[in-house]
Amino acid sequence: MYINFWYPAGDVDDFTDEPIKRRMLGLDFVLFRDAQGIARVLSNTCTHRGGSLSDGKVKDDCIQCPYHGWEFDGDGQCRKIPTLGPNGKVPARARVDAYPTIERYGLVFAFLGDLPASERPPIMEIEEYGEDGPAEGWAATLQCFEWPFDYKRSIENGIDIAHNEYVHPTHGFQGTRDDYERSTPKYDLEEWGVAIRGGEGRLVPPLADKKMREASGRHEPGIMSGGGTGSFGVSSLWTHIHPTPVMFIHQYLFEAPVDDSNTRLYLLNLRNFLTDPSDDERMMGRNEVVATQDRDVLAGVHPVQTPPTNNHEFFVGPDEPIAKYREYLKDWEARGWRIDVDKVDRDRKRVAYAIPSPARREKKGWILQSVPLLAGSVEAKLSKTVAK
Ligand code: FES
Ligand SMILES: [Fe+2]
Repeated sequence: MYINFWYPAGDVDDFTDEPIKRRMLGLDFVLFRDAQGIARVLSNTCTHRGGSLSDGKVKDDCIQCPYHGWEFDGDGQCRKIPTLGPNGKVPARARVDAYPTIERYGLVFAFLGDLPASERPPIMEIEEYGEDGPAEGWAATLQCFEWPFDYKRSIENGIDIAHNEYVHPTHGFQGTRDDYERSTPKYDLEEWGVAIRGGEGRLVPPLADKKMREASGRHEPGIMSGGGTGSFGVSSLWTHIHPTPVMFIHQYLFEAPVDDSNTRLYLLNLRNFLTDPSDDERMMGRNEVVATQDRDVLAGVHPVQTPPTNNHEFFVGPDEPIAKYREYLKDWEARGWRIDVDKVDRDRKRVAYAIPSPARREKKGWILQSVPLLAGSVEAKLSKTVAK
């Protein structure tokens, strides 16, 4: 798992004046909405004696620890230590890590890392989504699933052009066609991920849902019309499905690793047909069926984690984009962003780690230890120095 990306911490409705605990990257966070209406994400461990902040209360702009009542504001600064009395001066070091948040696409993204704003990888852009909702002519649905697999295996599955034929009976022919063949797709290596666009059409069955099939006007197997798929950052994915030249389903997956073996996925689906809200259920039903087919195959993959090298999996042509995704991961590891999960697990019972927040670059004297990271490479460190 990697620091320094924007992760979906929850949907906008998860953030209220009732705090909730959420595990991401193997650590716990408290989510709440302060009196100003700002969505807040803080490390869940109180720096006094380890109380669980999410078991406390939201008081105006602060979260109050349930143990001795210390109050931390949305920036993580402690504002009140009750035992000091009404005139007590709260020491500056009494703070917890707080993470930048952005509300977009009906989700709240938290930047889990310490990079300053100008150096942060972006959140995946969605052209069909405006400021407050889907753009003209589009309808959107948002679904959340929490499933027992490594998010990396899921991203790899998304850019795996050969799995549809076998995993999804509604997208392929289950090996019943003698002329089935897939070669290495054309792909681009973009700044934040692999993109497979357009390329050869694929023979697919008619759409499974009757109303959608009628909307498509295609009742026989046919060729998919363009579209594409790609990874973005460590844990986002886009897939554009074009059953006909004018009928588009654009899917965006934002994944948050709960830990190294469990993942929370947000599926934002945009469609430019059957856009009446009464068709949302139909669309979400189909999405869930298909996503569950992916889950079932991914939950059985061994080992759970993507392996450290590709030497013990046998890659063929259509797997090439997956090899490229793994190269991006190596690059982010070289920048020093990869968490030393084994050490965190070994220490779990006696050390409360925190993901370093941006304020750690400016202020000294943090109570919680920063989560251990695997050493970056010399080259990456040099290029960072040169870039400055
Ligand atoms: S542990 Fe949080 S106030 Fe004491
Ligand atoms: Fe799939």
